[in-house]
Amino acid sequence: MSALFSPLTLRGVTLPNRIAVSPLCMYSAVDGVAQPFHFAHLSTFARGKAGLVFFEATAISPEGRITPNCLGIWNDEQAAAIKPIVEFIKSMGVVPGIQLAHAGRKASTAAPFNGSKPIPSDHPDGWQCVGPSPVAVGEGFATPVELSIDGIKKIVNDFVDAATRAVDVGFNVIELHGAHGYLMNSFLSPISNQRGDEYGGDINGRMRFALEVARAVREAVGEDVALFFRISAVDSAEGGWNMDDSIVLSRELDKAGIDVVDCSAGGIYGGPSFRVSDEGKPLTKSSARAPGFQVPYAERVKKETELHSMAVGVIIDPLQAEAIIDNGQADLVALGREIMYNPFWPLHAAQTLQADADFNLWPPQYKWAVDRREQIRKLNE
Ligand SMILES: Cc1cc2nc3c(=O)[nH]c(=O)nc-3n(C[C@H](O)[C@H](O)[C@H](O)COP(=O)(O)O)c2cc1C
Repeated sequence: MSALFSPLTLRGVTLPNRIAVSPLCMYSAVDGVAQPFHFAHLSTFARGKAGLVFFEATAISPEGRITPNCLGIWNDEQAAAIKPIVEFIKSMGVVPGIQLAHAGRKASTAAPFNGSKPIPSDHPDGWQCVGPSPVAVGEGFATPVELSIDGIKKIVNDFVDAATRAVDVGFNVIELHGAHGYLMNSFLSPISNQRGDEYGGDINGRMRFALEVARAVREAVGEDVALFFRISAVDSAEGGWNMDDSIVLSRELDKAGIDVVDCSAGGIYGGPSFRVSDEGKPLTKSSARAPGFQVPYAERVKKETELHSMAVGVIIDPLQAEAIIDNGQADLVALGREIMYNPFWPLHAAQTLQADADFNLWPPQYKWAVDRREQIRKLNE
């Protein structure tokens, strides 16, 4: 019996296996509205039978987009465009999830395939970014406008409105994006949060905004929806947020109604930066990108809290993924680049792990032909 292909029940939703498609920005929406590309992209992973398919970082307000072409769910037109994709994913026996996001001081940037550069606010495609403090991400980035208390409260409400819309279009899994230097992460990290009021200062002050969002969203979506929270477990930068902080946060997120902590890392200085290890030692590029390099973060959350955890980052091999679940290092694995390379990764992993000898996981439209293919393959052996 494969651990990777065992189901997982979270509140009112059962995931058929432990494989999630990590949120993957496609920078292909128009005014935040999903396009045929989104249907094609996400439906492929549903046919590939990941247990949980996350929609990309979906902005809760226009200013919360990373790029002008990010997906949004701040209005009904956007929600209506998402609905058929949700319904198709469910029709494949797969669970759709949505990542709700505010880009904060990393907003108003060009897509990676357009150069990833910040877009100035006086450019027709740009806008003024906001953050906890007037501290720019780095060289070339705009200085964010410091959010007022009213501004913070409005964003908490925007998360609630977006989550309500998400439930209305059929999502039973919602992830709050608290990683990669975006708004919630920038409130958590002492590098970007230099506020003197109740939303800054010690870790309790810096956690306040994220916990307010988590509590408000839990209250709005009810008890049956599974809530994930993506953290940057470490800033991996001197004087930054560290793994002990993440354990403190996870325990508070648990009280706020979060079910799963999705353990990513980095991003406070721009792209995912890995400068120092958890012990403060400089990292080489290769040691920061070894297979499963972020798994220890998910393992600590799983072992030191009552929460479920999801591991992500260079999980590429079915045996590696199976071991992560089987060894109790995480409850779920999320795949990004590897599953973009091979969207049928879960179906192929099931073959490798002998979890689907008769191709029963395949959609019926494919199963009969894949059966024949197998017979022919054996005949030609
Ligand atoms: C094209 C692309 C888009 C991404 N978009 C998001 C996103 O919307 N939200 C997010 O939290 N992470 C995003 N990420 C990070 C991934 O979710 C994942 O954490 C990262 O790629 C590491 O996993 P991997 O090694 O399996 O690719 C993105 C990564 C890629 C490659």
